[in-house]
Parts: sequence; C-alpha cells; structure tokens
Amino acid sequence: MKVLSIAIGADHGGVDLKSHLVAALKAAGHTVRDFGTDGTASVDYPDFAAPVSAAVTAGEADFGVLVCGTGIGMQIAANRNPGIRATVLHNTTEARLTRAHNNANIACFGGRTIGVEVALDALNVFLSTPYEGGRHDRRLAKIERPVA
Ligand code: RB5
Repeated sequence: MKVLSIAIGADHGGVDLKSHLVAALKAAGHTVRDFGTDGTASVDYPDFAAPVSAAVTAGEADFGVLVCGTGIGMQIAANRNPGIRATVLHNTTEARLTRAHNNANIACFGGRTIGVEVALDALNVFLSTPYEGGRHDRRLAKIERPVA
C-alpha cells in the first residue's frame, strides 16, 4: 500500500464521522493532518474547507477529506479553490468513478447522511483508484478555464 498524506477537516455535523475516518487512515499507515474541528460546538464549514483545500493545492497533501452534515457545503466551499475537485461520496461506485474520470482530490462526506462503514469503504476506494487520464484530461482542462 502506498503511504499517503491526507489533510482532513470537519464541522460540528461531521466531527464524529471524521474521528472514525482519522482512526482508520492512521491504522492503515497514512499520514494525517487534522485541521479540526474537534468538538460539537457549532462552527462554519468554510473555515475547515479552506485549509484542507490549501494543503492539497500546495501539494502538502496527496488528498483531502472534508465532512459536514451533508458533505455538500464542504464540496461547494472546496471547489471554489483553483485546482480542487471535491466530490460528495455516497458509495464505492462514485468513489471509483470520480477518481478515474474526474481526478477528484478531495472526498466529502455527510456525517448525517452516510454510515461509518459505507464511508470507510468509499474512502478506501477513493484513495486507491488511479486517474485514467486520456480523454478526461481535455475535460478537466475545460473546468480549469470555464469562462470563454
Ligand atoms: C451545519 O448545520 C450544516 O449546515 C453543515 O454541516 C453542512 O451540512 C452544510 O452543508
């Protein structure tokens, strides 16, 4: 298994699932940089999407993981950053295809919408599926410059 550097963050809606994901990632031997939050006090998800996205963009992390109540707010916030392709995952099929076709670099989860085991399976597939390249390079290049 390739050892990966993973940046992870959550808001109060995702902090419980984040703790399970952090434990599993560490147990698998990956390096985890946890940007919080660490408790159940209400916080703002963009404050955690920002440093995780920055770590991925800077190449300090191979991948990011973001968890909020639904994963949707984190996905929206992360995708505002150049070079970030963040995807909410609900199953292993989405995890496989968003790596293979979209070269996604941040996996988002909903702490209130997915079970721990399903999230862990999806994350494992996400981290182990290579980007296919080829025809997808052209499409991803168009995303990087969307305004004609
Ligand atoms: C916080 O209540 C909730 O809005 C947040 O965790 C997330 O689901 C937003 O998309």
